[in-house]
Amino acid sequence: MKIAVLISGNGSNLQAIIDHQQQSKNLYEIVLVISNRPEAFGLKRAQKAGIATKVIDHTNFTGREAFDEQMKIALDKAEVELVVLAGFMRILSAEFTEHFLGRMLNIHPSLLPKYQGLNTHQRALDSGDKEHGLSVHFVTPELDGGPVIVQSKTNIQNDDTAESLQQRIHTLEHTAYPTVVEWFAQGRLLFKQSKVYFDAKELNSPIILTSDNSNA
Ligand code: GRF
Repeated sequence: MKIAVLISGNGSNLQAIIDHQQQSKNLYEIVLVISNRPEAFGLKRAQKAGIATKVIDHTNFTGREAFDEQMKIALDKAEVELVVLAGFMRILSAEFTEHFLGRMLNIHPSLLPKYQGLNTHQRALDSGDKEHGLSVHFVTPELDGGPVIVQSKTNIQNDDTAESLQQRIHTLEHTAYPTVVEWFAQGRLLFKQSKVYFDAKELNSPIILTSDNSNA
């Protein structure tokens, strides 16, 4: 399965998906990495792995639609079957998300539907939450609002800070995201008429991949 990864920055999730490709016996191949920022470190990671990269700098476009259209053209030209958003910090137009409906994933650092948007770690702390985590979901026009496939959880400790939570969740992300990508490539995951199916059964609640309650 040909996949593309969209990034804006460090690309540690991209790295995890690159590293997992061989483990998954090349069930998927990353054929293209697109960044909206020329300085994104993830571009170097992709180049090191011999993957084609493309910079589509959003600052060169006057409107969201024109920027999205360039990405759509590049992705379609590469015959991409799955688009993986990995720290891609742009809101996508409804037209773009509808074009890739059912074949675009995102990872978000919160237990959705809690904390859509930014600063998720601080918001979880400020709310006095006992647990926090990440969600991998199909992308729909609603920002961070598509159906959740997988979540990994961690308990919030008294001495946790936004930074310590971010670190812990990043580590969990590096297992969760490649796992979901592999499932999709295996044909185990399907998004149809607003519903998610896993192994041909409707998924009514997220699969909990990791629940770190070692210190509970
Ligand atoms: C991750 O925390 C992810 O949940 C969020 O952006 C971050 C990207 O990190 N969407 P990286 O660029 O993959 O290191």
